[in-house]
Amino acid sequence: MVEPFQPPPYPYDRLDPLEAVAAAHEGGVVDLSVGTPCDPPPPAVVVALGASGTEAGYPTSIGSASLRAAATDWLRRRFGVDAGVTDVAACVGTKEFVASLPQLLRLRRPDRDTVLYPAVSYPTYAMGAVLAGCRAVPVTVDGGWHVDLGSVAEADAERALCLWVNTPANPTGAVDDLGTAAAWGRAHGVPVFSDECYVEFTWKGPGHTILETGLDGVVAVHSLSKRSNMAGLRAGFYAGDAELVHYLSELRKHAGLMVPGPVQLAAGVALEDDEHVDVQRDRYRERLAVLRDAFDVAGVDAPAPEGTFYLWVPAPEGDAWGFTERLAKEAGVLVSPGDFYGSDGYVRVAAVQPTARIDQAARRIEALTF
Ligand SMILES: Cc1ncc(COP(=O)(O)O)c(C=O)c1O
Repeated sequence: MVEPFQPPPYPYDRLDPLEAVAAAHEGGVVDLSVGTPCDPPPPAVVVALGASGTEAGYPTSIGSASLRAAATDWLRRRFGVDAGVTDVAACVGTKEFVASLPQLLRLRRPDRDTVLYPAVSYPTYAMGAVLAGCRAVPVTVDGGWHVDLGSVAEADAERALCLWVNTPANPTGAVDDLGTAAAWGRAHGVPVFSDECYVEFTWKGPGHTILETGLDGVVAVHSLSKRSNMAGLRAGFYAGDAELVHYLSELRKHAGLMVPGPVQLAAGVALEDDEHVDVQRDRYRERLAVLRDAFDVAGVDAPAPEGTFYLWVPAPEGDAWGFTERLAKEAGVLVSPGDFYGSDGYVRVAAVQPTARIDQAARRIEALTF
């Protein structure tokens, strides 16, 4: 008999027992596990939510003309990329896009069944393959956490529906070379999907989009969640290869995937403003530095990320769950063990609490000795 499909455990649910342990700490838990923003979106975004007049009718699935124009303006302003409004479409935050993509690509290419993704990465790339009944094939990462595309077996490339890349990367903070990924995809006839939701948070130079290599065969996926602290509003967009964007947006329209009208207006307003992003970047830079210093005092070397708001910290003696447990018990600080992302031996620390709470967490971490 075929085994019935069991819903896989949700990674962060596995932290529930340790959250209770951390919450028992005097002063309560400082939760640095899930990468959920804590700072407010710009006031103009909140105003826009109440001003769209779009509540009564259905919104368009592809996204309003003004949202798509705001997205193309941003791509031009930020990266010098020229994309037309038909090369862009809205998504309901990007997690649903990542999770549902393999299913939609498989309908188009039933002869293919494989999703390639970085071996150490955001778990939803692999989960999208699982949910579509496809093969999730991790691509080896090197010592700097960059994908080693030379290691992909020819047989896997021939079966690939897509390759996911993510730079700056969750959880490692590494910045990868998108030109190499785009060239590999074009040479192998594999569409490359580039998850760029942390592109505004780079610490060693400007961020890049895969669209700088041209739009053919590639799709960049962008989220308002991190850039503009809008994770609760669920807004993102994807842009790139016109044929792929059109195909996906047609299927997503059938599936009823729509960003609510008020959120579409608010997302456009957010994309038109860069000032709040500069403020946010400074907040994360400061919080990351405070946390790194605290780990250093405790005897743990937490390398500086090249991007994102995460520290990817080697666990003492390689024991990530042991490290997570000690931080929860003795410091009331909740972090994520690396096996959530495909790598034992590390923990991910998200700088996503108000700076005063980060300072508090830092004082508690400094009091430990590893
Ligand atoms: C790499 C990566 N991609 C996508 C997402 C999903 O973000 P959202 O669905 O809020 O756009 C996240 C969220 O943490 C992420 O880290």
